[in-house]
Amino acid sequence: MEDLEDLRSELLAAAEAAADLEALERVRVSALGKKGRVTGLMKGLGAMDPDARRAAGQALNRVKDEVAAAIEARSRTLADAGLEARLLEEGVDVTLPVRPEQDGRVHPISQTIDEAIAILGEMGFSVAEGPDIEDDWHNFTALNIPPEHPARQEHDTFYLPGEGEDGRMVLRTHTSPVQIRTMQAAEPPVRIIVPGRTYRCDYDATHSPMFHQIEGLLVDESTHMGHLRGCLIEFCRAFFGVDDLPVRFRPSYFPFTEPSAEVDIGCTRDGGDFRIGHGDDWLEILGAGMVNPKVLENCGIDSTRYQGFAFGMGIERLAMLKYGIPDLRTFFESDLRWLRHYGFAPLHIPSMVGGLNG
Ligand code: DAH
Repeated sequence: MEDLEDLRSELLAAAEAAADLEALERVRVSALGKKGRVTGLMKGLGAMDPDARRAAGQALNRVKDEVAAAIEARSRTLADAGLEARLLEEGVDVTLPVRPEQDGRVHPISQTIDEAIAILGEMGFSVAEGPDIEDDWHNFTALNIPPEHPARQEHDTFYLPGEGEDGRMVLRTHTSPVQIRTMQAAEPPVRIIVPGRTYRCDYDATHSPMFHQIEGLLVDESTHMGHLRGCLIEFCRAFFGVDDLPVRFRPSYFPFTEPSAEVDIGCTRDGGDFRIGHGDDWLEILGAGMVNPKVLENCGIDSTRYQGFAFGMGIERLAMLKYGIPDLRTFFESDLRWLRHYGFAPLHIPSMVGGLNG
């Protein structure tokens, strides 16, 4: 058994000394592989008499287990060291300046959402989100758009197969269902804005089947139409960067607000020249109104105690107007040249103190 003791020390030392995983594998094969030294000794057991075989077998098994464990331990150490070395080698110094050829651009949709959040966030709204796949009840019914309502046709809805507890599932046609989800989940006061994706089956220079909206909802005990006017006039002037931008509220109809209004901003269309600001023309940019008491009641909110306002606008439309982007479809073509032209510097984050777009 002296031999075995020598073999044991030799193999353990070899495992410990293996400089990398390949060398370690060679040690394993030479010891425990089919033609390995330990395996060879195991094969020799058959020729021994039973008593000697039992004693030698036990001793051999112990050595085999010990060597296997040593190889396993060394393998873990080597793997850890390898990872450590790779992390060191691939480490990124985040304090280095950006390489000009790798300088990415912020997409105008992200930029416009960030600008709207900067303005409305400063007013006290916080961002809420909801699912893109909605049920019929949240997208329509709870918003006072009953099953046969003509507004449903105008929405060009993408319906999904199957039906849930709250009716068939749809790709949400507007961000308004998040009003419902928010009011169901929390007691007033509610002050939220909801930027997000919306879907309608429509495709031309001013429509895309997937587009973005930002919704606003404020519910408390004393909010009135004057607050809505103030909020939206302030928003439009800050967003377009025109301090005395004319803003007009035109009576309109939405099932979920009563009264409802569409909001126009002043603009000039002089020949081919289009400018936002003064002039004798108007351009519609958003829908708004006082939350219909039926909508509050659908969410379990006492409409004799609470009231509020809501608004909704299309992000692409805002971006096209502000940044002079003529075709809405180009937003989603992923053309790098377009993004380099219309994109924004990544390190300039819009804010009311730092400026909206640098
Ligand atoms: N959901 C409307 C749409 O997609 C936009 C809208 C209008 C939202 C008036 C509102 C609102 O919250 O009060 O056309």
